[in-house]
Amino acid sequence: MAASFHSLTVSKIDRQTPDAVAVSFDLPLDAAEAFAFRPGQYVTLRTKIDGRDVRRPYSICSVPESGTLTVGVKRVDGGAFSTLANTRLAVGDRLDVMPPDGRFGVKIGGVHDYLLIAAGSGITPMMSIARTVLEREPESRVTLLFGNRDTGSIMFRDALDDLKDRFLGRLAVLHCLSRETHAVELLNGRIDGARVRDLAARGIIDPLDADAIFLCGPGGMIDDVSETLRALGVVAAVIRTERFTPADDAPAAPVITEATRTLTREGVAVDAILDGVRRHFVMSDPQTSVLDAARDAGIELPFSCAGGMCCTCRCRIVEGATEMAVNYSLEAWEIDAGFTLACQSRPTSERLVLDFDAV
Ligand code: FES
Repeated sequence: MAASFHSLTVSKIDRQTPDAVAVSFDLPLDAAEAFAFRPGQYVTLRTKIDGRDVRRPYSICSVPESGTLTVGVKRVDGGAFSTLANTRLAVGDRLDVMPPDGRFGVKIGGVHDYLLIAAGSGITPMMSIARTVLEREPESRVTLLFGNRDTGSIMFRDALDDLKDRFLGRLAVLHCLSRETHAVELLNGRIDGARVRDLAARGIIDPLDADAIFLCGPGGMIDDVSETLRALGVVAAVIRTERFTPADDAPAAPVITEATRTLTREGVAVDAILDGVRRHFVMSDPQTSVLDAARDAGIELPFSCAGGMCCTCRCRIVEGATEMAVNYSLEAWEIDAGFTLACQSRPTSERLVLDFDAV
C-alpha cells in the first residue's frame, strides 16, 4: 500500500450541527482513479497544526462515482484536527488527503435488507452506504437506527429526511435521543445492547432477517450491540463494524512489555517493504511501536488513527514475530495469515521483516 497523499482543495463546507461539518473536496481528473471508493470507506486527512504533522481518518459520506469526495467531521474536545475543520477551515484551503481505504462497507448488487446502527458521527459512512444502496439496488430496503443527544445534534438530518421522502417505503429511520424525550418511549436513551434487544423483541427492527448489519460509533456501543446481536442468533459474518477513535487527539501510546523492552534494549533490526522498496531501521527502547521507530528514523510508513482501529498500517510479518498492544480492526484470518498493525506492533524476535505491500 502506498502512503502517498494528494493535495486537494476544499470546495464546500456544509455545517451540519453546531459542532459538525461536512467537508467536500475538488477531485482533479488525474486523481479520480486514485480516489475511487466503496461506500463505507474512509480517507486520511493531513495538515500541519502549530508546526505538528496531524493526520486523522474520516469516513466518506458521498456516493461513489458522484465526482464528489465529502467527509463528515465532528468536533471533539481537545481534537486538533476536528477543531480546525469546525472553526478555521475555509473553501479554497488545501489539505493532504490519502486515497480511500478500509474494509467497512458494502458491495453493491442484488436485493437485500440492511440494518444500519450508528451513534453520533458514526452516521458518516452510513450516509454513503444508504444513499448508494437506495439508488443502485432498487429493491433493497434499509433500516437506520441512529443515536444522538438531541435533535440539534443530529448530523445529516435534512439529508436523511430527503432520502426518506425520495425512497418512501424503502428507508426507515429510527432516531434514539439520550437527552430529549421522544414520543416513542423505546427510543429514549442511548443505543446499547438492551435497546437493540427490546426493539427486536417488539418487531421494530429485525436483525435476524437482515442480510448485513453495519455498526459505527464508539467502541463500547459496538461491543455491546455486537454481543447482543450474536446472542439473538445473528451470524457473526453478517455484522460489520467500524470504530471511531475515542478522541481525535493522539491516542495513548501502546504500553511496552518487559519482554519487548529486553529485546529492544539491544536494538531490534527491522526491515519494512513498501512499494517494493526495502527500508531498514532499528527499534530501540523506549520506542513503543514499529511505526514510532520508523518515524524516528525518518521513514514514512502508512498510518492514520495510530490507535489500532483503521487498518491503514496493516502489514504482513515476513520474518520474526510481534505482539500487538490492541487490535480493533484485523480479523482472525488476517492474524492467522501473519498480518499485524504496525502502529500497535512490538517485536518479540530479534529481527523483523514487515511487508506493507502484502494484500
Ligand atoms: S494506523 Fe490505524 S490501525 Fe494502525
